[in-house]
Amino acid sequence: MQHIDTPKNNATTPFDFTQENYDHVFAILSRYPDNYKRAAMIPLLDLAQRQHGGWLPVSAMHKVAQICECPPSRVYEVASFYSMFNRTPVGEYFLQLCGTTPCMICGSNDIKNTITKHLGIKNGETTPDGKFTLLEVECLGACGYAPMMQLGKN
Ligand code: FES
Repeated sequence: MQHIDTPKNNATTPFDFTQENYDHVFAILSRYPDNYKRAAMIPLLDLAQRQHGGWLPVSAMHKVAQICECPPSRVYEVASFYSMFNRTPVGEYFLQLCGTTPCMICGSNDIKNTITKHLGIKNGETTPDGKFTLLEVECLGACGYAPMMQLGKN
């Protein structure tokens, strides 16, 4: 969970919302009372992640903290708690494979082994061309269709 500065991910990594996304920022903020701006943190982090190719550099977290008028540590807490936020770059195709018991019983290990064999990546790794990232996650909330895998937003 520790952040380690890299050339691509540090406090000086350029990040700001686009003008179009600032319209979304203001729309999101308008849902909450002025004195509870931090309640907008999760949708703002989601917006930042979508804008930034599926992951959140620390500079994007700082921008969200600035908008929410809270210390950056509050944003780090949220971004590091929820698995929907990626704090390191992910591939263009982000494969999140459920490894929780119902999916495991229904064959998620076979799927993981197939992906590993076909793409040459293990859990948490990205293909050298940056196309695919595989991550084993906890329940995706669709156990009735087990085994489940999420590809990007789907
Ligand atoms: Fe896999 Fe719930 S256990 S989706």
